[in-house]
Amino acid sequence: MKNEAPFVVAIDGPSGSGKGSLALSVANELGLHLLDSGAIYRMLALKALRQGVDLDDEQRVDGLIDDFDIRFEAGEELSIPFLDGVDVSAELRQEATGDAASRVARHARVRESLLELQRGFLKPPGLVADGRDMGTVVFPKARFKFFLYASVEIRAQRRYKQLINMGLSANIADLQADLAERDERDQNRSASPLKPAEDALVVDSSLLDMAQVTELVLSHIREGKTT
Ligand code: DC
Repeated sequence: MKNEAPFVVAIDGPSGSGKGSLALSVANELGLHLLDSGAIYRMLALKALRQGVDLDDEQRVDGLIDDFDIRFEAGEELSIPFLDGVDVSAELRQEATGDAASRVARHARVRESLLELQRGFLKPPGLVADGRDMGTVVFPKARFKFFLYASVEIRAQRRYKQLINMGLSANIADLQADLAERDERDQNRSASPLKPAEDALVVDSSLLDMAQVTELVLSHIREGKTT
């Protein structure tokens, strides 16, 4: 029975849980396509900000999807996101864009309009998709589902180290407050809230490093377990 499911590895989890790096490693290791669904919400948020569209205006944000020109190009390590033909990697990484993405992502109509676009990324030999609702809504029949968890304190510490290593200034209390606010919004919205699928394996990465998390997930897939 399980071989009838499309070969999708769904990786969901809160902001800063490391699911993006995990998805990239798993996709590279298994030779699968990659969908960074957060980047799609971030690009939509960027488009709304650029056009001065109120992020809380569901109808107008949804209307932007009628003319939503996005693509990803393979880069050396990461894939590069293009909005209206222009590389927007730097803007997408900014905290402000992530925050705006979390606001446009609350709208049920917007989520509905982005479903087919996201499902279009599934091509042979298969897909690793990361986000908030990959295993629950976008790919409910995914062969493997993981939910990557880490406490907000640990995620804030990791983000702090990343920013400091990049030579940027950061305040750990502010980072923690921002993550907690984003979690609250992503978990408590009525449309596709952030939560583990019933058949997802919840991986607590608080005490594991990325290499250990990746190994755990890969061995689970290689052993062919479905939960
Ligand atoms: O994964 P990320 O931090 O790039 O996502 C940015 C925001 O987009 C996040 O706060 C919530 C939203 N999002 C979502 O609602 N559903 C997804 N599948 C992916 C992201």
